[in-house]
Amino acid sequence: MSVIPPQNRRVLSGMRPTGALHLGHYHGVLKNWLDMQHEYDCFFCVVDWHALTTHYANTAEISDNTWSMLIDWLAVGLNPGSAKIFIQSWVPETAELHLLLSMMTPISWCERVPSYKDQIEKLKARGLDLTTYGFLGYPVLQAADILIFKANHVPVGEDQVSHVEFTREVARRFNHFYGQEPNFEELAEEAIKKMGKKNAKLYRELRRAYQEQGDHDAIETAHAMLSSQQNISLGDRERLFGYLEGSGKIILPEPEAKLTSASRMPGLDGQKMSKSYGNTIALRDAPDVVEKKVKTMPTDPARVRRTDPGEPERCPVWQLHKVYSDEDRQQWVQEGCRSAGIGCLDCKKPVIEAIQQELAPIQERAKAYEDDPSLVKSIVSEGSEQARSEARITLEEVREAMGLDHMAVEHTAHREVTS
Ligand code: TRP
Ligand code: SF4
Repeated sequence: MSVIPPQNRRVLSGMRPTGALHLGHYHGVLKNWLDMQHEYDCFFCVVDWHALTTHYANTAEISDNTWSMLIDWLAVGLNPGSAKIFIQSWVPETAELHLLLSMMTPISWCERVPSYKDQIEKLKARGLDLTTYGFLGYPVLQAADILIFKANHVPVGEDQVSHVEFTREVARRFNHFYGQEPNFEELAEEAIKKMGKKNAKLYRELRRAYQEQGDHDAIETAHAMLSSQQNISLGDRERLFGYLEGSGKIILPEPEAKLTSASRMPGLDGQKMSKSYGNTIALRDAPDVVEKKVKTMPTDPARVRRTDPGEPERCPVWQLHKVYSDEDRQQWVQEGCRSAGIGCLDCKKPVIEAIQQELAPIQERAKAYEDDPSLVKSIVSEGSEQARSEARITLEEVREAMGLDHMAVEHTAHREVTS
């Protein structure tokens, strides 16, 4: 059905548990996740540890916000049958990877993440001290979230692109240090042969096309081919990926940021909808709350009286019509507003109804989860367990690559002394 090869279909994203989700999250992020969940192998987590980086002194709301976010996710239609839905701290393997990555991540890389110094200054003004070890390591923890699942795609907004870029650099550095093997070339050549004559030939051609001509299509074709190989081991696959472009295994693949479509949901005041602007409509706002919020929205200031003509471009209500109304109704607004043929309350009515209609099924599902918290808990426990079993595989490999699989190593030191 899908043309995306299985090894290239991992998606991971996370959200900090900040409280009730709103239409901005729905249109800007969650609809994207919904589209992806059937086509990709999706992992979605509530990053409660990341919440601690800013809220370490006041943790009272983290747990409530976590459950509330999970209910919102399920209510909009994230499907635990296709996506793994989990809580970051329920996959403690991530913490171990975070620690291991922290050993090899230069502090300067953390400090130069664009938001780092800004955020410290900004939150200092609000009385928060972010000069902590944990906050400096924020992007390292995010890298661990992504790399523990070897995710290929990370759907995020513009503001997170630098964190994904950071993750790519950490992965590259990791592979550089720990993907080296003394007889790498020999092992890679053996692995090529294991793919069979035809694929071996193709692999060599594609590798040459990339290394000699810098042909990027060739490397993509090669990745797709390697991903669909059934009969090679994990280690050989990592060698073959690495041999295409360099001289070591690729243990942690570099993820790509997948920019969520620029759909910017306008808020009640025309600015981007965001909790910090206080201009949101929450997914679980009751119909009468929605009505009241829209009814009290500001309109074109030039329409003081009902008989004054207005200009939709100066009105935040028009921004909502652009999201919710078809051509005909948009025409009706434009003409009615400019000719004073309609009043602002007439104009707002269809917006109110459209939002209420959009939210009704979401709220109905949310109610079912609110009424049965044990259902939510069991969905999340299961999602976390599924996530953990993937995380354990990566962590085993990472430990081995870093020389930490002590049980597997013979006691050579002891033998040298006695023999
Ligand atoms: N830093 C992200 C944000 O603030 C949240 C996040 C944490 C995340 N871990 C992640 C996003 C992993 C994508 C992938 O929005
Ligand atoms: Fe805004 Fe509609 Fe009133 Fe025009 S008629 S000012 S678009 S609310």
